[in-house]
Amino acid sequence: MSDVIDPKSVPTRTLKSGAKIPVVGLGTFGSDAVTGDQIAAAVLDAASVGYRHFDCASVYGNEHLIGPSLTKIMAGGVPRSDLWVTSKVWNDQHKEVEKACEKSLRDLQLDYLDLYLVHWPFPNFHPPGCAPDYHNPDAKAYIHEEYMATWGQMERLQERGLVRAIGTSNVTIPKLKLILRDARIKPEANEMEMHPHFQQKELFEFVTDNGLVPIGYSPIGSPGRPERDRTPEDTVDMEDPVIVRIAERLGVHPAIVCLKWGIQRGEVVIPFSVKRRNYLANLQAAVSAPITDAEMQELAAIDKNCRLIKGQVFLWKEGQTWEALWDVDGKITPP
Ligand SMILES: NC(=O)c1ccc[n+]([C@@H]2O[C@H](COP(=O)([O-])OP(=O)(O)OC[C@H]3O[C@@H](n4cnc5c(N)ncnc54)[C@H](OP(=O)(O)O)[C@@H]3O)[C@@H](O)[C@H]2O)c1
Repeated sequence: MSDVIDPKSVPTRTLKSGAKIPVVGLGTFGSDAVTGDQIAAAVLDAASVGYRHFDCASVYGNEHLIGPSLTKIMAGGVPRSDLWVTSKVWNDQHKEVEKACEKSLRDLQLDYLDLYLVHWPFPNFHPPGCAPDYHNPDAKAYIHEEYMATWGQMERLQERGLVRAIGTSNVTIPKLKLILRDARIKPEANEMEMHPHFQQKELFEFVTDNGLVPIGYSPIGSPGRPERDRTPEDTVDMEDPVIVRIAERLGVHPAIVCLKWGIQRGEVVIPFSVKRRNYLANLQAAVSAPITDAEMQELAAIDKNCRLIKGQVFLWKEGQTWEALWDVDGKITPP
């Protein structure tokens, strides 16, 4: 296996605007365990092995450390136009989106973002490292009018040229239907949890049918996720016998099978790693031999509907369960 991948050989997906996003990006959320300095070092080194796409967010608390890495990457000869940088507005900034974006730009040392997302459709936040049953007394339900007021600020950012495209994250079909109905500038991408044990087929199809690019987070099943995002019912993609068997046939780690499944299905995947061996292998997944159609069908059949990032810290009422965040009966959960 080569230890450098030509960035031009990495496939891209095209947004409605024509912009091209590389199908593998480096995640930058340290799950409250990996330090910002380690992640910033991984960003710099990942560019040297061929990464051009970085998935950032203000809440990850490390954009000010990643910024100098991006500056060094560009000083080393990679033009800004070859990079793809995503960031996201955090839940406590829904009323100050322009200010939040300007701060991310300063921290990332950029003058525009390729993609800016509303991180969650709820204005509810939690302190870093909080307990799984943390409840914010000011938490609220999804209020469509309030979301659209936030979206209006996203649209202004695009008109100001500070962001090239805007998108959603952690939305459901009923929410996305309303957003698509009412947005003046439509979302061009939706970031959502997707891995073989949580395929979200219906939402994935709704997203692609409406011309949005689906970006899959936790694409290998987030083995390092924070304690608050673990329950005894969670399944482990990388231990699934079908995934293990395909990995053995290809002579790769099961993580790579998860990534290949996502890419071949039509997603952009954003695996996190700070280990060169792993992030290199993850990018390699986009350019090495594909898994077969028969294997894709086998993988389609191992869906366990196992959501890992349940978001329970965003619940707004005592006694609710996390399903309330995800509109499981097809309707937006009322306040
Ligand atoms: N929009 C949202 O709300 C949202 C939510 C969650 C995540 N995200 C984004 O999605 C990114 C990825 O999600 P994630 O971090 O939850 O999960 P993930 O990418 O599924 O899993 C990351 C974990 O897998 C390990 N790993 C990575 N590559 C590997 C390989 N080739 N072989 C073996 N182990 C490997 C990493 O450990 P090592 O470091 O040891 O390799 C790390 O512990 C985040 O960093 C973030 O950018 C977005």
